[in-house]
Amino acid sequence: MYGFIFYLMVFSAEVLCDSENCHQNGDILYQTLGCTPIKDSITDLCASSYNCSHREELGDFCFFQGTKLEVGEKSVGGSSCNGNCRCQGQLRFTCPIYDCPEFFGHALPEGCYRTYNVDKCCSSGKICAPFRDLASCEVDGKTYREGQKFYPKDSCKQCVCQIGFNGKLEEPFCKLPSCQVEVRHSQELINKCAPVYKNSKARCCPYLWLCPNESLMFISEGEDNGKTCQFGDKDIKSGSVLRTTIEQFGKLYSVKCDCQLPPLLTCLVEHSERLP
Ligand SMILES: *[C@@H]1O[C@H](CO)[C@@H](O)[C@H](O)[C@H]1NC(C)=O
Ligand SMILES: *[C@@H]1O[C@H](CO)[C@@H](O)[C@H](O)[C@H]1NC(C)=O
Repeated sequence: MYGFIFYLMVFSAEVLCDSENCHQNGDILYQTLGCTPIKDSITDLCASSYNCSHREELGDFCFFQGTKLEVGEKSVGGSSCNGNCRCQGQLRFTCPIYDCPEFFGHALPEGCYRTYNVDKCCSSGKICAPFRDLASCEVDGKTYREGQKFYPKDSCKQCVCQIGFNGKLEEPFCKLPSCQVEVRHSQELINKCAPVYKNSKARCCPYLWLCPNESLMFISEGEDNGKTCQFGDKDIKSGSVLRTTIEQFGKLYSVKCDCQLPPLLTCLVEHSERLP
C-alpha cells in the first residue's frame, strides 16, 4: 500500500517534470499543431521528433489543434486572441480583429489597473485604489495584485494572480499557451519556414519565423545524429547550421538555426539590437 502511494507520488512528479523539461526543446509548437510525438525509446521523457503528416495534404479543409475543420468552420476553444477564426480551406484561416480596449490605449483612470482571466483574450475589468482585501502573488521576486497577468521566468506558463495562489504554476492560476500558429501563421507552416525562439530556457511559442530564401547558406558544424528537418523544399541534416539576421519590430535579430526537433528547424535568437 505504502509502496503504491510512493509510486504514485514519484510517477506524478516525473510526469510534471517531464512536460516542463520538454518545453526546453520546443514541443509546445508541435503539440499545438496536433502532431504525434516520436520517442527514440519508450523510457525517454521527451520526443526526439514529431509526426505532422496530417498537415502534408492541402484541400478544402483546415486543421485547428489537430482537428480537421471544413471550409467555413470556426476555430473554437481558442482561449487567446486567436480564437474564432474561419477556415478558408488549404489550411488557411481568416481571423476577426479583436478590439480589446487595452489594445487601443484607452487610458485607465489614475490608480487603476486592468484585470484578466486566464482563459480570456481581453481584460475582464479593472480594479482601482484603495486596493483593499485583494489577493497578492509573489513570483520571481515581484509582487502582483489580484487579476494581474504574469509570465514566470524559465516557464512557458501564462498566469493570473488570484485568491489561493501558493506559488505553484498550475490551473486555475496558470496555463500553457496554445500557440495557434495554424490560424495566424498558416503560410509560414505551408512554406516550411523555421520557428524562431527567444533564447530563454523554455522555448514556448515561436517569436518570429525564418522562411527559406536562396541566399541562406548552411554550414557543417557539430555532429550529425541522423535527424533530418525540412526547410522549404530542402532536407537539412542535423550537423548543418544556418546563421542569419532578421529585421522585424524595428530590431535586427541574429539567429542560429539547426535541426534539433524535426520536422521543422529550430532557430534561436543569439543577439538583437535596435535599428537606427
Ligand atoms: C505518421 O503518421 C501517419 C498517419 O498517422 C502514418 O501513416 C505514418 O507512417 C507516420 N510516419 C512516421 C514516420 O511515423
Ligand atoms: C532573401 O534574402 C535577402 C537578404 O536578406 C533579401 O534581400 C531578399 O529580399 C530575400 N528574398 C526573398 C525572396 O525573400
